[in-house]
Amino acid sequence: MKHLLKLGDLTSEQIIDILNLADQLKDENKKGIVHHHLKGKTLGMIFTKASTRTRVSFEVGMYQLGGNALFLSGNDLQIGRGEPIEDTARVLSRFLDGIMIRTFKQDDVEKLAEYGSIPIINGLTDYCHPCQVLADLQTIREYKGKLEGLKLAFIGDGNNMANSLIVGCIKVGMSVSIACPVGYEPDAEIVKWGMEQGKLTITNNPKEAIVGADIVYTDVWASMGQEGEAQIRMKAFNGFQVNAELMALANKGAMVQHCLPAHRGEEITAEVLEAHANEIFEEAENRLHAQKAVMVKLLK
Ligand code: CP
Ligand code: NVA
Repeated sequence: MKHLLKLGDLTSEQIIDILNLADQLKDENKKGIVHHHLKGKTLGMIFTKASTRTRVSFEVGMYQLGGNALFLSGNDLQIGRGEPIEDTARVLSRFLDGIMIRTFKQDDVEKLAEYGSIPIINGLTDYCHPCQVLADLQTIREYKGKLEGLKLAFIGDGNNMANSLIVGCIKVGMSVSIACPVGYEPDAEIVKWGMEQGKLTITNNPKEAIVGADIVYTDVWASMGQEGEAQIRMKAFNGFQVNAELMALANKGAMVQHCLPAHRGEEITAEVLEAHANEIFEEAENRLHAQKAVMVKLLK
């Protein structure tokens, strides 16, 4: 494994390997055991979108592993003034040991990997959010004791989260059911792949998707960069809220996951979010442990 650009590039074994290491690092962290696996290494973190969890988990994670993290805002870098990714990749490769990038186009992340000579980690694009799903899988396994055979229902926008959940969950033996409004389906190639695996269903009816679900997942209706569509989307997603009435149709003891930030009263009610706060904030914490595992795998 050279980079983490998207989960589709990883084998099931590689995903499980990362989850196992994440569990081990979490356990050591809780016991106060310190291993400076990345002593002397520097991770550059390029952000052209906002972030709380991703930035803090990578920065703190790097510190805990004995390395250094450099926050590089897209606005301040010459990228923001038009310096090509191809040149930025070759320059940064001479200073850094790895790059985590959060941006709009998946193609920019792939180009960074193509032209650079150091590991590249995708910290979210419009297309996918692999780091988040690794933390999600870690959390699900922690709560359910297994992954194989579980059903995850995703209610909402067929966005970067839906795309990565389809790939990540199916690769570890889970099945996925997506409920989204017409015109808001996940990426067509990912849907085709999921269908070929016989592990994906897509419907426009949240009630249909949630039946038999062990995990109910949702995310914002308007992602970063789509703020201008918020009003139109609010209408389109009417009926796609994860609320108590919908949750009653899931399996007994179903857990709720949300990558956060959440918009209470839109994709999820405050009631459901607070009833499942433990799982949701454990999921947020696991960003730290999962990200550390990814960095150890790629940079050590
Ligand atoms: N879930 C997630 O990626 O959060 P941030 O946008 O705060 O990084
Ligand atoms: N779909 C959301 C995820 C945020 C972590 C977005 O892209 O804004």
